[in-house]
Amino acid sequence: MQQALRIPVSGVEAIDGKDVIGPAEAFRPVRKPSVSPAKPETRGLPLVIRDLRKSFGDNQVLRGIELEIPAGQFVAIVGQSGCGKSTLLRLIAGLDKPTSGTISFGDTAARSEDIRVMFQEPRLLPWARVLANAEVGLGRDRKAAGAHDRAKQALEEVGLAEKRDQWPSVLSGGQKQRVALARALVSGPRLLAFDEPLGALDALTRIAMQRLLERVWIDQTFTAILVTHDVAEAVALADRVLVIEDGRVAEDISVDLPRPRRRGSAELATLEGSILGQLLGPGTAG
Ligand SMILES: Nc1ncnc2c1ncn2[C@@H]1O[C@H](COP(=O)(O)OP(=O)(O)OP(=O)(O)O)[C@@H](O)[C@H]1O
Ligand SMILES: [Mg+2]
Repeated sequence: MQQALRIPVSGVEAIDGKDVIGPAEAFRPVRKPSVSPAKPETRGLPLVIRDLRKSFGDNQVLRGIELEIPAGQFVAIVGQSGCGKSTLLRLIAGLDKPTSGTISFGDTAARSEDIRVMFQEPRLLPWARVLANAEVGLGRDRKAAGAHDRAKQALEEVGLAEKRDQWPSVLSGGQKQRVALARALVSGPRLLAFDEPLGALDALTRIAMQRLLERVWIDQTFTAILVTHDVAEAVALADRVLVIEDGRVAEDISVDLPRPRRRGSAELATLEGSILGQLLGPGTAG
């Protein structure tokens, strides 16, 4: 006999309104914005985006993004290729200027070292050893007293302390991405944006890296914004998943499941299927 299933998910509710039912298929995500407050004791930056627009010539990529992210939240962004995910991250990180609209980070002005981006390619300096590559993330503070110690600590955080005197060329793809993560962490960012950082990794390394990302986010309490093509990754890691479509936030789905989450669980699979259905169109997701 099938065991009754209780899913403690706000944002995923039984169709008939009862909270204990049989098969997982009987659940559907409720499309509602995440309203969770800032996490207690977070050093994360809150983010408020109003009517954000970005065009490249005639190409209107972002057409009025409205978004509020409480400090310390982990948000995943998914959407079809070319929908403007990287453009949105670049604007948030100050790497490009909006056509119109505003991006603000709470009451205080964000300093450049408060916001860091990690990309799909590790972008390490081939002529610098691992420790020096991690120090690059300190920017001007690279020459300050204590820079070595901070970089060593960041390498320890990502489990690469023993590789600090190596050249990047002898590292595996996963190890290079861990150095890139150490470089992003070393300045103590309050908002960390990830643009498909695990996209080039094999499946097992990817899962190990997902766990590492989750652990450093829990340890360091920054606000995390993860762009990913992998919806399973989005629901495994994020408090909230945003779907970008037609230049706007088309869906805003809470993932209120306890951590660490069990990959392959019925709850995650149901959410994943529903979001994939949204991305691919009706009748296409299994
Ligand atoms: N610097 C640029 N100049 C001109 N067009 C650009 C520029 N950057 C992005 N675009 C265009 O903006 C649109 C969105 O690009 P973006 O890279 O943000 O998409 P994406 O959602 O990240 O796609 P993917 O999932 O493939 O990475 C595309 O049509 C792209 O060609
Ligand atoms: Mg992109």
